[in-house]
Amino acid sequence: MSANAKLGWIGVGRMGYAMAERLARHGADLTVWNRTRAKAEPLSEVGARVADRITDLAGCDIVFVMVSTYEDVHEVIAGPQGLLSAGGAQPKLIVECSSISLEGSGELRALLAERHIELLAAPVSGNAKVIKAGRLSFVCSGPKSAFDAALPYLRMIGPAASYVGEGELARIVKICHNVMLGVVTQCLAEITVLAQKAGVPRHAFLDFMNQSVMGSTFTRYKTPAFVNLDFKPTFTPPLLRKDLDLGLDAGRRFDVPMPLTSITRDQVQTLIGHGTLDEDFAKLLVLEAANAGLTLSPENVPVGDGLAPSA
Ligand SMILES: NC(=O)c1ccc[n+]([C@@H]2O[C@H](COP(=O)([O-])OP(=O)(O)OC[C@H]3O[C@@H](n4cnc5c(N)ncnc54)[C@H](OP(=O)(O)O)[C@@H]3O)[C@@H](O)[C@H]2O)c1
Repeated sequence: MSANAKLGWIGVGRMGYAMAERLARHGADLTVWNRTRAKAEPLSEVGARVADRITDLAGCDIVFVMVSTYEDVHEVIAGPQGLLSAGGAQPKLIVECSSISLEGSGELRALLAERHIELLAAPVSGNAKVIKAGRLSFVCSGPKSAFDAALPYLRMIGPAASYVGEGELARIVKICHNVMLGVVTQCLAEITVLAQKAGVPRHAFLDFMNQSVMGSTFTRYKTPAFVNLDFKPTFTPPLLRKDLDLGLDAGRRFDVPMPLTSITRDQVQTLIGHGTLDEDFAKLLVLEAANAGLTLSPENVPVGDGLAPSA
């Protein structure tokens, strides 16, 4: 497959939109489809075609998928109205980027293999702002030839793509990654509330943490939300709960105790139980504060997130 392959893209939610936009801006031959068409329409301004029907993408060489759960992945690819439902033309390769289970990914690989379609499992690390900053990373598994075919396009989206081997290995890496995302966020919430209750403003506390050896790209880009309580969603509690559940399922399957994951999963469940469905999961901070008898207010201090947009 050449670097001028015809590309299809299914799913332009928070992540998919920003990823597809980068492909289009790099001049890729790209056709996008989204269940809610209106969300995809602005991509025509950067050179992508917007398809009316998902089956319009069946003639593409490579189709990328970025939806929510495995059920959704199955529906958009193999469902009664899915990509492969019309018969006839079909892609050579599907690059599946959603965060899904090992089992779901294996089932998908088997059903695509029956149709002689290769699958590259390619979940990602980073949110939409990370994508815009040109810092998204992929972890990939499947046939090495599929990775090589997809690599020029992965590189248009983000600088880092690690190939970790055959089959569904990328899924376990991504699950581990998101377990850390949840656990670190809960830890950051606990220590920020502890410091505040002891008298340290959140911006001052996080300024120190971010510059310390414990600071990271992640602690820096969550700092504006923690300081000024802007919970516009980058990643929602239901999606994080899905990933913590995937981590706990994998722990059961491989007989690995995951005590921190269990506790964090219940904190995220509590947040969801309080009705936080469409705000950012950083709202774990507010839950932790409430449990400590503290009502938080925005500090209204300008703080950077360490992410500058890049071409
Ligand atoms: N947000 C993050 O920071 C982040 C980071 C890394 C990985 N991820 C993973 O990336 C995936 C997408 O996350 P997101 O934050 O972009 O989610 P999102 O904003 O909720 O977008 C989900 C997308 O999937 C589509 N979709 C869902 N179910 C569908 C179905 N049954 N049929 C057709 N389309 C369907 C939605 O279409 P509509 O527009 O019609 O609803 C939308 O385009 C998830 O697996 C998530 O765990 C997210």
